[in-house]
Amino acid sequence: MSPSATQSEADLAMHAGVPESQQTPANTSHTALFSLTKKTVAITGGGRGLGITLAGAVLEAGGHVACLDILPEPAAAEWAALQKTAKASGLGLSYHRADVTDEAALAGVFDEIDAESAALGAPFYGCIACAGIQQKVTALEYPQADFERIQRVNVTGAFLTAKHAARVLVKNGVRGSIVLIASMSGQVANRGLTCTAYNTSKAAVQQMCRSLAQEWGHPYGIRVNTLSPGYIRTAMTDDLLATAPELEKIWMAGALLNRLGAPEDFKAPAIFLLSPGSSFMTGADLRVDGGHCASA
Ligand SMILES: NC(=O)c1ccc[n+]([C@@H]2O[C@H](COP(=O)([O-])OP(=O)(O)OC[C@H]3O[C@@H](n4cnc5c(N)ncnc54)[C@H](O)[C@@H]3O)[C@@H](O)[C@H]2O)c1
Repeated sequence: MSPSATQSEADLAMHAGVPESQQTPANTSHTALFSLTKKTVAITGGGRGLGITLAGAVLEAGGHVACLDILPEPAAAEWAALQKTAKASGLGLSYHRADVTDEAALAGVFDEIDAESAALGAPFYGCIACAGIQQKVTALEYPQADFERIQRVNVTGAFLTAKHAARVLVKNGVRGSIVLIASMSGQVANRGLTCTAYNTSKAAVQQMCRSLAQEWGHPYGIRVNTLSPGYIRTAMTDDLLATAPELEKIWMAGALLNRLGAPEDFKAPAIFLLSPGSSFMTGADLRVDGGHCASA
């Protein structure tokens, strides 16, 4: 590729004369397989925790980033670091305050991100739906309103995020990638944790992924996958451990690598799912849990 050629120009050149059914964006160099150059990615829950760490990963992969969160402001130190990276690399970075359960507001933010991306010359390419909430309550006591609130944020919020991301992709004719952050708790019940609403919501996200992949793979070429983390040390798990410190011992008993996860452990998996390297992967779940689900 000449230094001035864009990735899509290189793809076109590579695929010249190849029937469309046999074209794959993965037919490219190792570097390009994991590159998000000239692409804009939206990240919900991008105000802190896993989301803001993945925002940094997208910038490092050459992508432009739009973070969306219900928080008035993103976490100060992490955001300052992102701004530094974005500035040094000439990449776009924006923060949008919105509630993923408010469809009108969310649609408006995706329109803004679409316009920002066009101005950057880096079409909107996909999203990471990372916004989520957790709550530890026993099932015998679980209030209906709380159970429904968890489903509204974790399930409806992820669906609305995917829906509005896909609407922009379809409008622009972009064959993009959508990553939904689920959890190993969508597949297993966590010993010692009374989180039926959360676990139910994450199983729903995994099934939503398969259904959306089925609808959007053809003719739109939009891929949808879930990334299912195991235990990660973030504000979410700190809250759980604050009320039940004994949980850490139970979690460590299942930690085959003798440690809990850090948000950085999900940088490479998220970039893989977004980038051309995973172009034959859709409707799949990538579980990254330090081996937790591999042992009884
Ligand atoms: N921490 C873990 O061990 C773990 C494990 C598996 C999966 N996950 C998932 O990873 C994702 C990120 O979790 P985290 O650990 O970084 O937690 P976190 O609480 O630090 O981050 C969640 C973010 O989502 C935002 N958010 C919550 N409700 C929202 C709404 N209605 N609209 C917009 N934004 C909203 C929060 O403000 C926050 O910034 C979640 O989906 C979580 O379920 C976390």
